[in-house]
Amino acid sequence: MPSGAGLPEIRLAEGFPGDDTGPVVDLLDGVRTLVLAVRPAGDADASDQAPAPLEWHGPGAAAAARYGLDLLQAAHRSRLRGGAGEAIVLTLPPGLAGTTDPTWAGLPERVVLLGVGTGDEKDLRRAGAALSRAVEGEEQVVLALSSADEPSSEALRALIEGFLLAAYRPPRRGITPAPPGPAEELVVLVPAVTAERRHAVDGARRSASAAWTARRLAAVPSNVKNPAWFAAEAERLATGRGGVSVVAHDESWLAEQGFGGVLAVGSGSAQPPRLVVARYDPDPAGDGGPTPRHVVLVGKGVTFDTGGLSIKPALAMVPMKTDMSGAAAALAAVLGAADARLPVRVSAVLPLAENAVGASAYRPGDVVATHGGTTVEVLNTDAEGRLLLADALSWSCATLQPDAVVDVATLTGAAALGLGRRHAALYTTDEDLARALSAAAAASGEQVWRMPLVADYEAALRSNVADVANVATDEHVKGGSITAALFLRRFVGGVAWAHLDIAGPARSAKAEHEVPEGPTGFGARLLLRWLEGLAA
Ligand code: BES
Ligand code: MN
Ligand code: ZN
Repeated sequence: MPSGAGLPEIRLAEGFPGDDTGPVVDLLDGVRTLVLAVRPAGDADASDQAPAPLEWHGPGAAAAARYGLDLLQAAHRSRLRGGAGEAIVLTLPPGLAGTTDPTWAGLPERVVLLGVGTGDEKDLRRAGAALSRAVEGEEQVVLALSSADEPSSEALRALIEGFLLAAYRPPRRGITPAPPGPAEELVVLVPAVTAERRHAVDGARRSASAAWTARRLAAVPSNVKNPAWFAAEAERLATGRGGVSVVAHDESWLAEQGFGGVLAVGSGSAQPPRLVVARYDPDPAGDGGPTPRHVVLVGKGVTFDTGGLSIKPALAMVPMKTDMSGAAAALAAVLGAADARLPVRVSAVLPLAENAVGASAYRPGDVVATHGGTTVEVLNTDAEGRLLLADALSWSCATLQPDAVVDVATLTGAAALGLGRRHAALYTTDEDLARALSAAAAASGEQVWRMPLVADYEAALRSNVADVANVATDEHVKGGSITAALFLRRFVGGVAWAHLDIAGPARSAKAEHEVPEGPTGFGARLLLRWLEGLAA
């Protein structure tokens, strides 16, 4: 199973620590790290004792009794407040040589007290991530979270997703020793191992795996990652996955098909552009009953964005190896859909080009004809993403008969300015897509904010010499993310369409909760959730 290569193992097991019956003792036998969850205490207790600042979330009391220690008080002394993202590790001291063993002899020697805050999905995702950081390098970690009918499968999925997302390590090259890797195995004690809980674990693994794939692709430096490299990676990742096929079209195919935008953007580079189509079909033979729905994900794949002749300033150019994050997220979502065997057809259409400075580079003032015939006056060669997307959207709508098209792109600095580093801008002409994508965002923890396609701004893209300009010619309009979305809308005809501008959340300056420093893989989990919802 290709899903989850390199992820820590996750195992569900039945039992409660502290409960002396049968299998529990076996479960804790040889375990070195036990994790117990705590949360801020409610103030309901009106007894004359000072209210406990912390309380157990799950079976911590029983475990504390096993140890004969007031673990809550110990946590309090270590200044744990119980919020999501907090974790402390208590190391139990061994007894003096020659004396009677302490009460806790034979029990796990490390106890992680993990804050879960409100216990909602967002907090559990953060708690999972904090746990991942607290136990890096360990072999096996046992988490006792459950009591009665807890955890729900959504809660379990969020916690494990957080754990796996924070277990990611970027690919490194060089001779210096690697920092510690993640824990090898997490065992989650649950009251009963049910099919629903197993599905929750599988869902978390697929989401995390998709995010890891997208992050890894975006982390590759652009002296390695050119369009042909990305195409070969897509082929490699598809190998062994049932129902996935990858076709990589070269520059002569692009010319024949009229992809003037992709060719113009790629013209300054020594590495020619490509169009990769990665397709997952649940029923390739077409004999499984009604034709499944077909969804197309178009991902911006600029393998490096110098800005072209409208060159970027030095500092703005540094992160531009990640300008293919949309393509990475779209590809990862297709692979995830295949791993989940979702009953929906999904195609990732990935225009790949390097926006370089060269003797044959396209120029400001050039007019290029895109797929479908619309001509574009290029007023800024740094607004290259929309030229790639124009071709890919038009071709997808004309040839793939999609039921819906969603594009995902690191498109504008304006989106990052407006919404910051944790929200993508969502534009759509379709209310069902708006609802479904917003719901998928909420469930996945990858947040979106719907933005308006302001009709009055459309005039700003006017050109004297072509159908449209690639940037606003009216300086008073501003709204750079909106005008980019309005530009894209011209190329989708009547197909239900949504656009995600991920320029803000695709990268992070620091590691925070489930988000790593560097490429975040944003979009992969959200799109996969949305596809899961379509299948339901
Ligand atoms: N890839 C950039 C957008 C970007 C900026 C992504 C910062 C991530 C972080 C895109 O190709 C670009 O250069 N957009 C221009 C558009 C402008 C020339 C209209 C921008 O946002 O400045
Ligand atoms: Mn650019
Ligand atoms: Zn770009």
